[in-house]
Amino acid sequence: MPELKIDLLTLFPEMVDGYFAQSMLGRAVQNGILEIGVHNIRDWATGKHLNTDDRPFGGGAGMLMKPEPLFGAIEAVATPGCQVVYLCPDGELLNQKMCGELAATKHMVLLSGHYEGIDQRVRDALVTREVSIGDYVLTNGTIAAAVLIDAVCRYVPGVLGEEKSLVQDSFNDNLLSFPQWTRPLEYRGMKVPEVLLSGNHAQIERWRNEQRLAKTRARRPDLLGEEYHHNDI
Ligand code: ADE
Repeated sequence: MPELKIDLLTLFPEMVDGYFAQSMLGRAVQNGILEIGVHNIRDWATGKHLNTDDRPFGGGAGMLMKPEPLFGAIEAVATPGCQVVYLCPDGELLNQKMCGELAATKHMVLLSGHYEGIDQRVRDALVTREVSIGDYVLTNGTIAAAVLIDAVCRYVPGVLGEEKSLVQDSFNDNLLSFPQWTRPLEYRGMKVPEVLLSGNHAQIERWRNEQRLAKTRARRPDLLGEEYHHNDI
């Protein structure tokens, strides 16, 4: 049994097939820690022309995904109690806390749609969570689903080689990460900060925390509950 089973429903499986075979996720799939199934929604299309989309009632731009193939696809892969996540620009904004929560589930079904959207009945009847990966619109949710899967799987035990990577990530404690250096000690005239060479771990930790706070204040005051005064003089 894998730690986490994921089924991704998309019209474009080729967009992400290679992605899940690479790097840390690829290794976790090989080791049986993760099971990732990528399914083509078109396999559940019905009717003479196997259409998966149609015009919206009431008019408007673009096409919507029809309910029948989506109900068919979701009902074919869902298991009792699993999360059914729909990726869409009008979903809840993805964050690190949500990734931890989703990683604690056993089975996740992800649905990626056209950017124009899907029939509301699918959302009302079958989707348990709607997630956006940011305030911009993609042509479809497949890459968004891959982003979510990547971020969630880092929390699944055994996926990261070193679990302490999770502790020093950006967004832990709602702070961005501290800057880091590796060898050589000096490169093109640029030196590694002295404090990191001191061997004084308490001092290093204090310095790193100051760096995290300063960076967060400058770039993401919202994480600190502070307002961003872009035009302040
Ligand atoms: N589909 C289109 N845009 C998206 C976004 N920003 N997040 C998730 N799914 C999407």
